[in-house]
Order: sequence, then C-alpha cells, then structure tokens
Amino acid sequence: MKNIAILCSGGDVSGMNAALKRFVEYSIRKGLRPYFVDNGFEGLIDNSIYEACYDDVAGIISRGGTKIRTSRSKRFMEKAYRKQAMDNLKSHNIGYLIVLGGDGSFKGMQALSDESEGVSFAGIPATIDNDIAGTEYCLGVDTALNVIKSAIDSIRDTASSFSRAFVIEAMGRECGYLALVSALTSGAEMCLIPEIPYDLDDYKLCFQRQRIGGRKYFIAVVSEALNNSEQIAQWFEKEIGIESRITVLGHIQRGGNPTVYDRLMAFHFVTQAIDGLLDGNKSSVICYDNGGFNHKKIEDVAYKKYEISPELLKLGSEFG
Ligand code: F6P
Repeated sequence: MKNIAILCSGGDVSGMNAALKRFVEYSIRKGLRPYFVDNGFEGLIDNSIYEACYDDVAGIISRGGTKIRTSRSKRFMEKAYRKQAMDNLKSHNIGYLIVLGGDGSFKGMQALSDESEGVSFAGIPATIDNDIAGTEYCLGVDTALNVIKSAIDSIRDTASSFSRAFVIEAMGRECGYLALVSALTSGAEMCLIPEIPYDLDDYKLCFQRQRIGGRKYFIAVVSEALNNSEQIAQWFEKEIGIESRITVLGHIQRGGNPTVYDRLMAFHFVTQAIDGLLDGNKSSVICYDNGGFNHKKIEDVAYKKYEISPELLKLGSEFG
C-alpha cells in the first residue's frame, strides 16, 4: 500500500474541507493510505503528519476554512527546512503529496520536488483571488463571490435608504477579479481594478448627469490591490457632493458555507490529482480551462502572470 498526504498552504478558502473529504474517501477507494499534514508547510517541517480516516472528514463538507489548518511558511524557503520536510515525508513512507494553495505554494512544492526523489507532487489551485495562471478557476472563488454578493445586496438596502455612496473594497492582493465580477453581478455604478485604466473625470461627468436625472445613491466596488478606498470615498463627497461610507469586506470573503460549485470542484480537483499521481505524474498542477481539467507543469503556472479573460475585461471597460 502506498501512502499519500495532503496539505493546505497560504490563504484558506471555502471548499478545502470538501477537498479533504474527497481526498480521504478516494484515496482509500484507490488502495492508498491517506495522511493529513497539519498547518501547511510548517507542519511538514515539524512532522505534524498523521494518518487520516473516514471519521476525520465526517461532517466537514459544509464548513469553510480547513480542518487541517494552513500557514504561510517562511522557513520552507530555506533548503535545510525543506530537507527536514522531505525526511519527515519519507519517515511516513509517503510517496505522493497534494498541495492546495496559490502560486507561492506551488513554487515551494517545485523546490521540494527538484531537491528530492521518490515523492510525486500534485498542486490544486486554491485562492479566492483567482489569480493563478493556466487555470480559469481556483477553489473557493465561487463562495467568495457569493459572500460578496450578499454583502453588496445588503449594503444597497442601506445606501438607497440613506442616499449615500458606498465604496466597497473587495479582496485581491494583486488582482481585480473578485471586484470586477462582483461589480458586474451586483449592478454597481463604479468598478476600479488594476487591470482596467480609469479616469475619475469620466465618472464625474457620468455621475453628475445621473444625479440630475434623479439618482440617489451609488455603489462603487474597488479592488484591495489599488489601496484607494479612502481616496474614492473623499472623491464622492467632494466631486459628486454625496455623503459616502467605506466598507472593507476583508476576511469574511474567505469564509462561510461552501457553495455547491466549490464542493463539486473540490471533488473534481482531488480526483484529478490522485488519478494523475497514480498515472505517474511526478509534479504538476491541476488546472481547469476550456471546460476541462489539464495537468500542467508548475513552471507554466507558478511563474506566469494571470490575466483576466478579455471578455470580462471588455465588460469591465464599460464602467465609467
Ligand atoms: O488568500 C488571498 C488573500 O485573501 C488576499 O486576497 C489578501 O490580500 C490576503 O490573502 C490577505 O492575507 P492575510 O490573510 O495574511 O491577511
């Protein structure tokens, strides 16, 4: 019997627990012995590795976050700690490792893979930012979008009652995907993201005209990546003459009951990862594009820049 392990790395997403459930159940079905690594690469270094069973994953499918915790490990950037991590994997006879995370996590996985033999690796894209090159979808994005949707729907109630402008900041360290899709699907009046150049004077003309036409409130969705929520709120007060408030959605976007789509995608990603490892893939990332799953090299994923699709950008360019 071969042993297989899974760990979560970087920001948690809703759907990781569904992935853990599928991991345990599908591994056993395939004749593998499943192991959990607690606390990401930190746990790999510290040998927080234990065999997992059905009981460990009972009742977790509906919970956000990750039962086995996650971390951003600085130590893992050092070769000596990676060697310790590898020795730990070998001490448990683990021949396969699945990593759920973003491009930083995959770079760590590649370093481990380059420096060692006897262990095969599979990465599963998991970040609400949806900013990993080579895949159109990262686990957790749909749940995050639905959390944002509910928040904006609620904010609209108070914005319209009070005749205010609301500047709503959506997460995305470097990428405006969440802000763009949320602005489009919640009917926002303004959307500011790093990928689309904007001119506040254009917005000014348009909003002034709307005010004359009777508009009482505005919803602006801005990306965390621009770091300008305060500036935009002041702009509404000064240039448009409307009272404004800022809502930074923050970490609520990372949690909550995973959507059906994320649960299903978790199952698909893990199934693909395990099948790929059993087929002999040594080191790959499972990507979802053009309606199907592809196993791509880490260098084609972690070292390339993610681009929002031209169709979405075109829709986004109609703001302002
Ligand atoms: O996981 C991605 C992300 O949520 C980004 O959107 C955000 O910039 C960052 O993580 C926040 O990181 P932390 O949880 O360390 O505050």
